[in-house]
Amino acid sequence: MSAEQSSESMVGRHLLSIADLGAEGLREILEVAEAFGEVERRSVRKVPTLKGKVIASLFFEESTRTRLSFETAAKRLSADVLSLAVASSSVKKGESLRDTVETIEAMGIDAVVLRHRSAGAPHQVARWLTNARVINAGDGSHEHPTQALIDLLTVRQVRAEADGTSSEGTGLRSFEGLEVLIVGDIRHSRVARSQVLAYSLAGARIRICAPGTLLPIGCETWPVEVVHDLDAALRTADVVSLLRMQEERGSGSFVPSLHEFTATFGMTERRARLLKQGAVITHPGPMVRGVEIASSVADDPRCLVRRQVSNGVPVRMAALFLSLSSSSAVRDV
Ligand code: CP
Repeated sequence: MSAEQSSESMVGRHLLSIADLGAEGLREILEVAEAFGEVERRSVRKVPTLKGKVIASLFFEESTRTRLSFETAAKRLSADVLSLAVASSSVKKGESLRDTVETIEAMGIDAVVLRHRSAGAPHQVARWLTNARVINAGDGSHEHPTQALIDLLTVRQVRAEADGTSSEGTGLRSFEGLEVLIVGDIRHSRVARSQVLAYSLAGARIRICAPGTLLPIGCETWPVEVVHDLDAALRTADVVSLLRMQEERGSGSFVPSLHEFTATFGMTERRARLLKQGAVITHPGPMVRGVEIASSVADDPRCLVRRQVSNGVPVRMAALFLSLSSSSAVRDV
């Protein structure tokens, strides 16, 4: 796994994987997201940037945060949003994914935001569509690029604030030498795969910790160190990224019991006390309180989950804007 094959701008392109970005593309999207964060603080939280564009929101798998924040982001940019209610669509009559997206493109849409249970579905849709851009909103256990971007933006802001500065214009500097510990059901986690690509592009040191059965097959080729002593790893981590046990992908059958998983790999109150000064906890949500994270730790100020959700809107504004723009439009932001 490597994200070094590309160093291109995201302007005018699909966003299928963090590997499409390269370090320059990663820096670009964080800066544009930071600029759109300013729109969020205005009394009128709307700009005309994508007026006349139509964005289709296609979620073939459940979502709260990603779907609502993409749709909010599109509306903040003055785009029109078509939201397909999959459960009451012709998908239920047997219409294929290809026919569904080609039908929607024939209505004159400019972008598709796609979540699908099958890894690679957004890549396949990008090949089928003629003009519309595709943004991956999570494909199976493969990738969730905008979630990783949210995590990096949030961590960059918190580190700048701890230094009494602004994160705007800081590029990827705050990640150099940062120690990131990813804990939990890494095997089934698309967030973890995108995080590993993004944090490694940014220069962070990544460690992963999970029950042996929940380590991903092939992770020895990832740019990570596998660690087994969670308590020791927590003492040195700057960022601890917790992951949910994914019941919908059968995670429970990979451990003897959820109780044992929590005892061995959960962020309990005792483990939260091991964190060093300034360390933070991220979680992509949804959290399952009492399993991967104790309820009191979820509400601890060191846990950035609410701030991650808030950053979802500007990050997705940036992804839509860059994907649907030309270079000259981006220079004016
Ligand atoms: N983090 C995330 O993707 O959450 P949702 O499944 O609610 O979109």
